[in-house]
Amino acid sequence: MKRVYIETYGCQMNEYDSEIVKTILRQSGYHITETPDNADILLMNTCSVRENANRKIVARVHEFRHAFQENDKQIGILGCMVTNLGEDLLDLPINFMAGPDSYKFLPGLIEKAKKDKLVHKKLSRTETYADIYPTRVDGINAWIAVMRGCNNFCSFCVVPYARGRERSRTIPDIVAETEQLVQEGFIQVTLLGQNVNSYDDQGKNFADLLQAVSQVRGLQRIRFTSPHPKDFPLELIEVIADNAKICNHIHLPLQAGSDRILRLMRRTYTQKQYMALVDKIRSKMPNVTLSTDIIVGFPTETWQDYLQTEAVVNTVGFDSAFIFKYSERKGTLAAKKYADDVPEEEKTRRIVRLNDIQKNISLKKNLAHVNDIQTIIIEQLGTKKSPDDCQGRNQGNKLVILPGKHHVGEIVQAKITDATAHVLKAIPAQ
Ligand code: SAH
Ligand code: SF4
Ligand code: F3S
Repeated sequence: MKRVYIETYGCQMNEYDSEIVKTILRQSGYHITETPDNADILLMNTCSVRENANRKIVARVHEFRHAFQENDKQIGILGCMVTNLGEDLLDLPINFMAGPDSYKFLPGLIEKAKKDKLVHKKLSRTETYADIYPTRVDGINAWIAVMRGCNNFCSFCVVPYARGRERSRTIPDIVAETEQLVQEGFIQVTLLGQNVNSYDDQGKNFADLLQAVSQVRGLQRIRFTSPHPKDFPLELIEVIADNAKICNHIHLPLQAGSDRILRLMRRTYTQKQYMALVDKIRSKMPNVTLSTDIIVGFPTETWQDYLQTEAVVNTVGFDSAFIFKYSERKGTLAAKKYADDVPEEEKTRRIVRLNDIQKNISLKKNLAHVNDIQTIIIEQLGTKKSPDDCQGRNQGNKLVILPGKHHVGEIVQAKITDATAHVLKAIPAQ
């Protein structure tokens, strides 16, 4: 029996896709291994969203080839780099490539790639892998991709090219999968989509889906990522607010604060509209945890433009933010229309400054929870610092460290006693 090792880069959708790949390969008689050393086939499920994601993969391919020079292991590249870069990757010492919609062809590709380098990267309008039950990792959380693809074409982003058009699974299908997951012991599902709230099952929207999934008995928590600000009607906010199982955490990518930059990015909202959405969310969910994604140094971004991003960060007070330097991606609208003209040192200056500001805000937000009683679900026994502590998460998706013995999946009422910018510390509430 051939053994396959798979390494995953990029977003949660890729984590999920690797679980899909494992099932497809197992059904074709392959065995999945946990280390590259004893594998016959090495797979890398890749990300192409920024240039350094690409660089990492190229280095890893060479590292693998070097380490396993003597034996004839096959190396395959999967995922977004394949659809984004395609044949350009054939110079690498690899045997085959398969894009995000090509995984059902993998067993055939692996078989045939013994002779020639093979590429399958055709995107599909319909593939959702609804018929493949992922090989999930044990734990409390199961990912479910409820929609795939993106139709938005933000000017900086490769995802619409790498992942193709939007398509959704049906509500009954997702509910049935959730029921099975609960029977298997998972107590949380995270609904995934490149624009998860653009979900559309023949007119049934994301709010309908959330409501349906929340009816599943035994399920404790529902998370979702990533929503786009353009699809946030009041109805959706109310469903999240009124439903105890749906976590009060919203990841709401801002990208930039300047209206001029937002327009060039094709984000379809202005700073004012974004702020109004935050207000609307907070009016229904006063304790909501908000996180965001931000890009600094988009082409033509001036210091004044950048300060607008800073102003939004200061005004909203996000609990956390993922901040990126603009990375020009071949084939995107921004790459075609605008020179990548913000110097690297300037991008660095902006990202360092904004991360610093955000860190202080995160710390303040976290310290404000001290003395709160919160519901924590334990995810891991032992932490980096101490084998005697456990790690879990609150509703807001914040990491919480607790002393003492618990078990994974245990639901603990805990009192927050201290915080850093990254974690809360707690003790079981009396
Ligand atoms: N679908 C999600 C984002 C997916 S990509 C959404 O619309 O919110 C995740 C994040 O990577 C984006 O939110 C953006 O902040 C960042 N990103 C995407 N393309 C980028 C680029 N070319 N350079 C730098 N950051 C980028
Ligand atoms: Fe990329 Fe925009 Fe689509 Fe998000 S919405 S995946 S940023 S194109
Ligand atoms: Fe990367 Fe593809 Fe996800 S480009 S962020 S792995 S959708």
